[in-house]
Amino acid sequence: MTDVKGYEYKVSASGRVNIIGEHIDYCGGKVMPAALSLKNTVYVRPNGTDRINIAWTTLPDTVSLETGRLEEYRHLKYGNYQAGSALMWQRAGHKIVGCDMLQDCKVPFGSGLSSSAAIEVSTIAALAAVAGERADPVEVALTAQAAEREYAGVNCGIMDQYASACGKKGMAMLLDCKTLECEYIPMELGDYRLIITDCCKPHSLSDSKYNERRAETEEALKILQRRLDVSCLAEVTPAQFSQCSYMLPKTLRMRAEHVVNECQRVKTAEQALRAGNIELLGRLINQSHASLKNLYQTTGFEPDVLVEAAQNHPACIGSRLTGGGFGGCTISLVKKDSAEEFTDYLLRAYARRTSYRAVCYSAEIDDGITVEEVNGK
Ligand code: GLA
Repeated sequence: MTDVKGYEYKVSASGRVNIIGEHIDYCGGKVMPAALSLKNTVYVRPNGTDRINIAWTTLPDTVSLETGRLEEYRHLKYGNYQAGSALMWQRAGHKIVGCDMLQDCKVPFGSGLSSSAAIEVSTIAALAAVAGERADPVEVALTAQAAEREYAGVNCGIMDQYASACGKKGMAMLLDCKTLECEYIPMELGDYRLIITDCCKPHSLSDSKYNERRAETEEALKILQRRLDVSCLAEVTPAQFSQCSYMLPKTLRMRAEHVVNECQRVKTAEQALRAGNIELLGRLINQSHASLKNLYQTTGFEPDVLVEAAQNHPACIGSRLTGGGFGGCTISLVKKDSAEEFTDYLLRAYARRTSYRAVCYSAEIDDGITVEEVNGK
């Protein structure tokens, strides 16, 4: 057990799953993520210097960042997310206080569960806490997104950082990425539970085709705007799309078709979850995966094997890849009383067909940012 007694605050932010609404946050769509009990926790105390000293519970490395030179740390293997987050918070006009941080990440890296958002959001919230500031979680989320885009080079949407900062225990979020309005819907799954499985194939969004997909949606929007009066792809209705899709070259048509239909699926999923129609939610989850595989092309061999195996099990009513894609985690809706049998089956089926071993994580839907004083100080 790491000794955390000398720290002043314990600040956590969550990893997330996205239930449905994939690759539409940056198209102005509504998405349905939920924050997880897998978190990044930052223990922090002021140190009276102009440096942010960072240590990790899981690494022997330590890093020292000068608060006046935060733009210079992009090359760091560890500490670059923290540096980027501090830099963006500073640029937004907040005071950065020299401090010691101990980072404890329980969100598996590269798993598609937003470890980077959890690190960015908790680091900013910790910097605010140690400066005596009560941070607005939405501002923290937007600043963390800026760090991911400008410092880490992933041109991401707002979903992950928003979920990481503003999640609520037991609640799915219905986040409108255009207006940043968020509704919370009780995540009541009746006879079913959500199982998260990592395909354990290493991947990273910065060297994946994530930025390319985003650029494709922007190009598709520009072309459609020649005929349609819309400000984002999520505003295009299925009827408008079927009238105008001829304007798009094939690849852009496939990408836009995914976006238009996924937006509709989120609407239906909201109704399904509110009505307790979990079977319908499961079908939408399957359709979302098929669309990511065939139209958006952000899945890949291993995630497809995992999803297909899950969908073939009689206790599973829906399974799909969650998050940015190209690897990472799947979510499956599975009958509660068959969960164990399902998991055994899934891990075996996956190991038979791929050269990786999958892992299931047990996690609850939990709060986003939490700030506690250590030792009740
Ligand atoms: C990543 C990004 C998000 C979102 C998802 C895909 O997780 O960080 O902004 O675009 O991919 O839905």
